[in-house]
Amino acid sequence: MAAGFGGPENLQVQEVTVAEPGPGHVHVSVRAAAVNPADVKSYRSDGDPARLPLPLGLEAAGVVVAVGPETSASVGDEVIVFRTGGAYATDLVVEESRLTRKPASLDWPEASGLMLTGATATHMLVATGAGDDETVLVHGATGGVGLMTVQLAGLRGARVIGTASERNHDLLRELGAVPVTYGDGLLERVRALAPEGVDVALDLVGTDEAMDVSLALVADRSRIATIANFERGPREGVQLLGGGPGADPGTEIRDAARAELARLAGDGSLRVTVEATYPLDDAADAHRQILTGHTTGKLVLLP
Ligand SMILES: NC(=O)c1ccc[n+]([C@@H]2O[C@H](COP(=O)([O-])OP(=O)(O)OC[C@H]3O[C@@H](n4cnc5c(N)ncnc54)[C@H](OP(=O)(O)O)[C@@H]3O)[C@@H](O)[C@H]2O)c1
Repeated sequence: MAAGFGGPENLQVQEVTVAEPGPGHVHVSVRAAAVNPADVKSYRSDGDPARLPLPLGLEAAGVVVAVGPETSASVGDEVIVFRTGGAYATDLVVEESRLTRKPASLDWPEASGLMLTGATATHMLVATGAGDDETVLVHGATGGVGLMTVQLAGLRGARVIGTASERNHDLLRELGAVPVTYGDGLLERVRALAPEGVDVALDLVGTDEAMDVSLALVADRSRIATIANFERGPREGVQLLGGGPGADPGTEIRDAARAELARLAGDGSLRVTVEATYPLDDAADAHRQILTGHTTGKLVLLP
């Protein structure tokens, strides 16, 4: 939980009583909870002190240990919980509708990190209509959302060009994408890689560079989407997706994506890359890492 607003030094583990699961609810013993930039953003700026302490964490994976009335889940079910609140926890009581069966082939950290990034990536690809034989430019291709977007765009038959620092280029190649280094000269480098043009541009980093290059390459602004630039995005007329002001939350698309994400991850078509795991007590270290902006894939907390 965040006991105050500001930096990761405000994070604390606190004891709270877990309620019995009511109708339609289950009690999940958490095995892993994924870290997302949104967790940090929720307490970075000053807010209403009445909201403190602020529970953190939007997704987890674990085992059902108790069920309330009117549920079809069973004790012992291995599940992914998304989307929820307060997932940085040993125990969660959640609505059964938040559960997806955990694919047996995923370990706990991978399972915990599948849904938020996967659902966001799906939303971006559906909203821009990215598909077969199209060229898709992904800015920030090796972050949590980036690695999902690259793979899911590839599964839809697109040719993917992904921006990343050089140390991550081999990873992008392994996933079937064409890597390109971000920074000065990006526009020319992408043009050289895609002389036939770019059909869709997805901004996962929120920099002016990502926006400028997207606008220069894609004429149809409905085929540019951002999940990270809510300042310029509205002025430029591109699609704003997710939780930002004026953005399309895509709730139905994201909810519907869960079953397909579990299927793809379960049969090995979709990989969840976990850069590091941390004990729950060291959540502040995980937040310091995510704040660097240079995490590859997911960070995960183990209660
Ligand atoms: N609106 C929504 O629904 C929604 C949902 C999820 C996430 N988000 C937002 O989307 C953003 C990405 O989320 P995430 O979970 O993927 O974050 P993340 O995992 O922390 O992303 C880190 C990645 O960003 C890359 N990166 C850093 N600077 C870059 C630059 N200038 N150009 C290109 N890539 C750069 C890094 O690549 P290198 O390590 O190679 O430098 C790293 O792989 C965050 O702002 C997050 O809050 C929004």
